[in-house]
Amino acid sequence: MKFIAFNAREDEQQYFEAWEKKNDIQVKTVKGALDSNTLDRTIGYDGVLALQTGVFPNKMFDKLNKNGVKVFSIRNVGVDNLDLEEAKSNGIKVTNVPAYSPNAIAEFSVTQLMQLLRNTTVFRRKVAEHDFRWAPFVGKELRSLTVGVIGTGRIGRAAINIYRGFGAKVIAYDVYPNSELEKEGMYVSSYDELFAQSDVITMHMPATPKDHHLINAETIAKMKKGVYIINTARGSLINTPDLIAALKNGQVAGAALDTYENESPLFNHDLREEELQDKVFSELLELDNVLVTPHVAFYTETAVKNMVFVALDSAKAVCETGTADTIVI
Ligand code: COI
Repeated sequence: MKFIAFNAREDEQQYFEAWEKKNDIQVKTVKGALDSNTLDRTIGYDGVLALQTGVFPNKMFDKLNKNGVKVFSIRNVGVDNLDLEEAKSNGIKVTNVPAYSPNAIAEFSVTQLMQLLRNTTVFRRKVAEHDFRWAPFVGKELRSLTVGVIGTGRIGRAAINIYRGFGAKVIAYDVYPNSELEKEGMYVSSYDELFAQSDVITMHMPATPKDHHLINAETIAKMKKGVYIINTARGSLINTPDLIAALKNGQVAGAALDTYENESPLFNHDLREEELQDKVFSELLELDNVLVTPHVAFYTETAVKNMVFVALDSAKAVCETGTADTIVI
């Protein structure tokens, strides 16, 4: 049995090596992405590991099957960029890492919201300019706000616990409600209700075609004036030009975006010497009331370690038993 891991970063290397040593199974690590140029590097490997938010190569599973691959293990949660039907018809098992650290993402979302509520970015900039005045950047306290959580899976629930700790009123919406939260009466019955009541909207759901551009001009108009929007889930949930318009006219007071619809050519790349080609993204970066981060909510030591170990354990389990605890299909 041997595995090949694409998109392998330096900070993951120690975990790949430790697992390889402990299990006595070869793991070849490749820095680059799994794309049409690198696909044939999988020949001779039983399992392929990857971690990328963008598109995978066309007909990838057909080709992996021809190359003899049995299992495809992503080191992250989201499977929205995988053609699972194609994997199934090729007899390739797919695994993910559903709970590498829900807290990593939940804590990051709250961190970003707190920065928006207390204008820390604005004050940092002002202090750098030696402008030490306070007004008009008066902050808001979480205990005076209603936080609307969309998606109450592991990450959403971790976020709910943190917000409750701050004394915020928390309401939630999920197409698949959690029974405990249901008993507590946490759920509203529609997006519209959540939009109407929330001072903060934080998204913790997977991207599905149904929720494509859930946040758009029409839905933003249903929200409270001065709402804050936090997205650490998937960029496709937001129509970015519509959000920019609302951030400019004050309907949305602030947004923290750790994901962006067209993030693949941008995030986790060094573009310091290049002019950004994406005009919408550039416009976003110019706004004072937006915090853009490059899909790093997940990025903690705990998460990185779990992503590598669980993905490798899952690939091994599939090769040995035909399935794994983290099987997707
Ligand atoms: C996920 O786990 O799905 C994430 O969004 C993290 C990212 C590294 C792909």
